[in-house]
Amino acid sequence: MNMLKRILKITSLVLGSLVVLVVLFYTKIYISTNNRLNKRYEVTTHALPIQYDSASYELGKRLIVAKGCTDCHGDDLGGKIFIDDPALGLIVASNITYGNGGLASDYDEYDWTLALKHGIRRNMKPLWIMPSHEYTRFSDNEVAAIIAYASRVPTVDRELPRSELGPLGRILTDLGKIALLPAEQIDHKALPVKLVKQEVSVEFGRYLSVACEGCHRADMRGGDPIAPGFPPVANITATGNLGKWTEDQFVTTLRTGLTPEGKQLNPKEMPWTMTKAYTDVELKALYAYLNSL
Ligand code: HEC
Ligand code: HEC
Repeated sequence: MNMLKRILKITSLVLGSLVVLVVLFYTKIYISTNNRLNKRYEVTTHALPIQYDSASYELGKRLIVAKGCTDCHGDDLGGKIFIDDPALGLIVASNITYGNGGLASDYDEYDWTLALKHGIRRNMKPLWIMPSHEYTRFSDNEVAAIIAYASRVPTVDRELPRSELGPLGRILTDLGKIALLPAEQIDHKALPVKLVKQEVSVEFGRYLSVACEGCHRADMRGGDPIAPGFPPVANITATGNLGKWTEDQFVTTLRTGLTPEGKQLNPKEMPWTMTKAYTDVELKALYAYLNSL
């Protein structure tokens, strides 16, 4: 009987210390992620060549699809819930129209530029998940056209809940397993980005591949899934399946999501709804670049 009591006592001591350790560990993560979420950036941004003419409008209209804005913010840019998972958290892609629940009526070109080029909101705190670390590397002309178009779309009245980070979301952010705050990855003093010549060239392909990096990694060789519940990311260099594909097959894959091997890619995992809006020149340039790796 005495023996049993001692065992029980030791067990509860061990369990108790474990609980204390877990609480301490989580508190540390909670404080350090909170500091990052609430950091105020001291950034000034240069003015972009924004023009409200029909050429910008046409370009912007294509780019909001081709650069993925509609994948997250919805076809009408009225926003939607992007991730809703009790462990990861609730991530809401904001209503970026000027309707109810959307941008303030005085949200101006400067604010748009801060969001797109720096990943920062008006109060100078970092935006969550919004992939500005990619947009910051797009040419100023393209970003200007996106702003010209996106800031004039019909208003959408849609009130959405606030984003909240769940415990797993915090832990993964702390461990650097999810890039929650793109502002941290941006060189905020970078100079304006010039337009790359739009032609079927490795250089233009490299410029476009920024949009693939977030998942396929900088070396385009893919790897672990980008978040729990997603498939591993494919190798899209010449050493992967792509090395066996013709240019036509590559273009078809990125327009239909159907690979030459007969695999139907899920647009929620591999965003071909975005690459579908690429021009022939853009897709061929990407093919040239990826095959050069
Ligand atoms: C991977 C998903 C994703 C993509 C792609 C994306 N966004 Fe976002 N965006 C978000 C999320 C999530 C937020 C809200 C961030 C927050 O509130 O912390 C956001 C916020 C914004 C904001 C800031 C709104 C505010 O309240 O300050 C603007 C402006 C914006 N996005 C424009 C765009 C444009 C334009 C594009 C395309 C070039 C784009 N986004 C692409 C997810 C995305
Ligand atoms: C949001 C993450 C994400 C982005 C952004 C992304 N991909 Fe993918 N891609 C994936 C995943 C995940 C797979 C593997 C899907 C599967 O196995 O079902 C994949 C598969 C592919 C495949 C099929 C490869 C094969 O062997 O079947 C091609 C081709 C491809 N991606 C090209 C691109 C290009 C080009 C870009 C940039 C313009 C890009 N992807 C951007 C996540 C992404």
